[in-house]
Amino acid sequence: MAESMKGLHRSYRCAEVNSKNIGETVTMMGWTNKSRNKGGIVFVDLRDRTGLLQVIFEEKDCGSEFFEKASGIRSEDVLAVTGVIEKRSGAVNENLATGEIELRAKSLRILSQSDVLPFPIEENSKTKEELRLKYRYLDLRRPDIQNKIMLRSKVMRVVRDFLCDEGFLEIETPVLCKSTPEGARDYLVPSRVHPGTFYALPQSPQLFKQLLMVSGYDRYFQIAKCFRDEDLRADRQPEFTQIDMELSFVDIDDVLDVNERLLKKVFKECIDYDITLPLPRMSWQEAMDRFGSDKPDTRFGMELIDISDVVKDCGFAVFTGAIAAGGSVRGITIKGQAEMPRKKIDAWTDMAKGSGAKGLAYLALLPDGSFKSSFAKFMTEDELKAIAEKMQAEPGDMMFFVSDSNKIVWNVLGQLRCELAEALELIDKNKFNLLWVIDFPLLEWSDEENRFKAMHHPFTMPMEEDWGNIDSDPGSVRAKAYDIVINGYEAGGGSVRIHLDDVQEKMFEVLGFTKEQAMERFGFLLTAFKYGVPPHAGLAYGLDRLVMLLSGTDNIREVIAFPKVKDASDLMCNAPDVVDEKQLEELYLKTVPVEEE
Ligand code: AMO
Ligand code: AMP
Repeated sequence: MAESMKGLHRSYRCAEVNSKNIGETVTMMGWTNKSRNKGGIVFVDLRDRTGLLQVIFEEKDCGSEFFEKASGIRSEDVLAVTGVIEKRSGAVNENLATGEIELRAKSLRILSQSDVLPFPIEENSKTKEELRLKYRYLDLRRPDIQNKIMLRSKVMRVVRDFLCDEGFLEIETPVLCKSTPEGARDYLVPSRVHPGTFYALPQSPQLFKQLLMVSGYDRYFQIAKCFRDEDLRADRQPEFTQIDMELSFVDIDDVLDVNERLLKKVFKECIDYDITLPLPRMSWQEAMDRFGSDKPDTRFGMELIDISDVVKDCGFAVFTGAIAAGGSVRGITIKGQAEMPRKKIDAWTDMAKGSGAKGLAYLALLPDGSFKSSFAKFMTEDELKAIAEKMQAEPGDMMFFVSDSNKIVWNVLGQLRCELAEALELIDKNKFNLLWVIDFPLLEWSDEENRFKAMHHPFTMPMEEDWGNIDSDPGSVRAKAYDIVINGYEAGGGSVRIHLDDVQEKMFEVLGFTKEQAMERFGFLLTAFKYGVPPHAGLAYGLDRLVMLLSGTDNIREVIAFPKVKDASDLMCNAPDVVDEKQLEELYLKTVPVEEE
């Protein structure tokens, strides 16, 4: 039978008491983490989001009625216990913040009782994630998750404080809007009032924040919900949160400076980690050449090396063919792995194929100085030596190569490099490597659409010194865009925006928009820019990703209170779900049944 709170007042949270409180009479509340009836003594570990407190019930202290009640306590019952904080009678528990003390109970109320749980509330749960997400409210009781959710709250507070102190205004922008051009699929909301029309949920507040600059708010930020209907991965959610900002009268350095100081403060105050400023900056080209990725993990080496010039005239057609077609041959050297078993090589080859390679060639420089290779029969000993030298290989090292278009070579080796480092445990997990990737290409060729697309978005400013080449060689024009990369993740990104009519017009032309199409999609922004627009720039962090990194997990769902799973559904609420026919009618909607294959 549950009892009320009447007349009770919680003195502290469970782990907020310590040896300084010895002798104090307190009322503590929380969940029963564990209870043990040792005949004559009942021990209860009382738990809340701060931690555990040991409670002791003995008949001599609390009387027979309370003692009997305490004997019936079950796991996860919610209790209120009044008693005295004492020095622990048994051995001190070094693992607990409250390990030196205990609460000697005088009275007890069972505020509510718990049924048997579908899984135990424990740190680093072994329960399947599906079941945990179905009962997310229970999963959220687990101390490791609670720490992450509390860390998230702290990050938001530190960010807010910092940005407000720097003169940023927190301004909300709409959630029901017109589609924004971030490039993912929109989530749509049908309008009842305007039959047949739809709002789009924002993929980001991009256009609104630029309009706020036109309106003179000069420094804006928002912790904004964003929605993107894209294929989910471990670091992606269909709805996620951005720390979004925009600044007027600035250029790249101003944006990077304020953000470096923000990051320094967040790392220090949230996880007591010191980062050194200024952060390193790396051009996109260098990142691709050295790491095969625009979000390089620089915590370990194994960098890509281009051997095209060494093998361009060799007898291995796989290599020469790729080079002749405008691609390249690049490799990575894996220290001490020359004797990697065939099975493992095959597994890495499959991985490489999975990410788009046609194959994976290997060259092992054995400890005795001889070679073993998948392409030895096509090469002379001297050619193999020249490759090994270029690859900076020493006896005992393994080399993997991919030949293809640069894009595929980068992508495959970039991924392989990370997976190998993970498998070979080359990564120092206590380290955070932050860097800016800058000088991105403005445009990216799309084979599917047979046209250039904006790499960031169509409002990103080209580099002044490259703009002259926009007609002759659009692909070579670099953008005033930047990403903040942390341990191989894109934690945030942004750009300086175009505020010049002629540049924007040209940009739309290059992207293949007619004037009418541009007006139709972005008319309100383009019109606004006619009335005095300040030069402006901005950036947005993925808050979820940032907290994921700060808390040392690689699963974004761990840092979101109520996340969605891979197929974008919420297992707890069972969303998305069908709705009443009547609701559809009101919205002038009809669904089309999915045809079974
Ligand atoms: P961008 O599209 O790069 O830029 O997004 C900014 C950051 O948001 C995070 N992010 C995501 N996090 C979780 N799940 C997702 N599906 C997801 N998609 C993106 C990433 C990313 O770096 N308006 C621009 C910013 C600007 O130019 O100011 C924008 O949205 O960490
Ligand atoms: P093959 O002559 O096709 O048997 O290939 C010889 C070796 O080259 C095998 O180890 C293949 O995995 C590898 N290979 C094939 N295509 C490529 C490629 N595009 N890049 C790198 N290695 C390749």
